Amino acid sequence: MKNIVILISGTGSNMAAIVRAAEQQRWAERLGARVAAVVSNRPGARGLDTAQAAGIATAVVDHKAHASRDTFDAALMQAIDAHQPALVVLAGFMRILTPGFVAHYEGRIVNIHPSLLPAFPGLHTHQRALDEGCKLAGATVHRVTAELDHGEILAQAAVPVLPDDTADTLAARVLTQEHLIYPRAVAELLQKQ
Ligand code: GRF
Repeated sequence: MKNIVILISGTGSNMAAIVRAAEQQRWAERLGARVAAVVSNRPGARGLDTAQAAGIATAVVDHKAHASRDTFDAALMQAIDAHQPALVVLAGFMRILTPGFVAHYEGRIVNIHPSLLPAFPGLHTHQRALDEGCKLAGATVHRVTAELDHGEILAQAAVPVLPDDTADTLAARVLTQEHLIYPRAVAELLQKQ
């Protein structure tokens, strides 16, 4: 069985979309894959409850309990590697990872970013798209490399920016698309493995 480990920091709606797709599309039978664990860097992340309710193993590696990025990443790697993952999926995981961590999972780690990369890497993507007067916004699934929000683009979805949009309304419109493209991109990767 190919194990998927999903990393979250908060709500985990992308994680939930992947869990739902895995169930509805019978990934275990069709792809020989399953979501083996959900790991959060925040003890209170809502997504942990969602994962537990779906019967998925969860773990917390609290970044506040670590003095350096290196020790945090080492602890995180240990929690992830306990599940021998074929694929590590970052889904709203709000920590910058060390190059050593990224190298350890090279070729089997992906992220979703709420902009049409290479536009707007980093934070506050929706407000920045509004400030620039963009007519389109969107989300990108990409491979993770040592450079933040770079790496091969695997999937994208675009949405219109509407005249009355705020960062919140735009984020919500983009998020509905994230929930479509992320499970699809993950399934495609697993198919190729
Ligand atoms: C998503 O917009 C994702 O692209 C970004 O953070 C948000 C996380 O949402 N990195 P959720 O935790 O998946 O609900």
